[in-house]
Amino acid sequence: MKKHSLLLPIILLFLNQSVSASDWRQAAKSNDKINNLVQVMPGASTLMLQMEERYRNLYWSAKQKKWEFAEYQIEEMQDLIQTLMITRPKRKKTALKFFQTAFKHFPVALKKQNWSYFENSFEYMRKQCMTCHVENDHAFIVLPKQPRIGNSLVLESQTQ
Ligand code: HEC
Repeated sequence: MKKHSLLLPIILLFLNQSVSASDWRQAAKSNDKINNLVQVMPGASTLMLQMEERYRNLYWSAKQKKWEFAEYQIEEMQDLIQTLMITRPKRKKTALKFFQTAFKHFPVALKKQNWSYFENSFEYMRKQCMTCHVENDHAFIVLPKQPRIGNSLVLESQTQ
């Protein structure tokens, strides 16, 4: 009991401090808010983890003839690249080149809904991904032609 009575004031003091610590999202000056936001903007390493998921799921959605889902993956990949152009200006030039070239065969592939046309379009994109890795000093990041698995729940559903 004695131990408790000593600890309690200390705990209360700590609680009081953490509750009253100001929340920068409300209290900070605009400049500090902006600085914080800039610091937490997702960079290439974060965005690329999403990119690789989309890469897998794009491949497997086409393989399963889930063409709408494939199209959706492409749109999301385009969004990721556009985000990268904003959050990492030093990657902008190479990202823009990728954005303008890498996806160009997909519209026909999706229209034809043809696996071998799609496969060639996918391979074309894969090469552009890796070109950008080379241009950004990450040549060791090599992508498989045929990702082994997709990992979206949507790919597990039987209906199309
Ligand atoms: C603008 C250039 C650029 C483009 C385009 C690009 N990448 Fe990347 N990628 C990078 C950079 C830079 C890194 C390293 C991230 C870092 O360390 O900041 C990276 C890392 C990766 C990684 C490693 C992720 C990890 O941390 O384990 C994968 C996987 C990846 N990219 C996949 C892709 C795929 C798939 C595409 C194409 C659909 C692609 N990338 C297109 C620049 C690019």
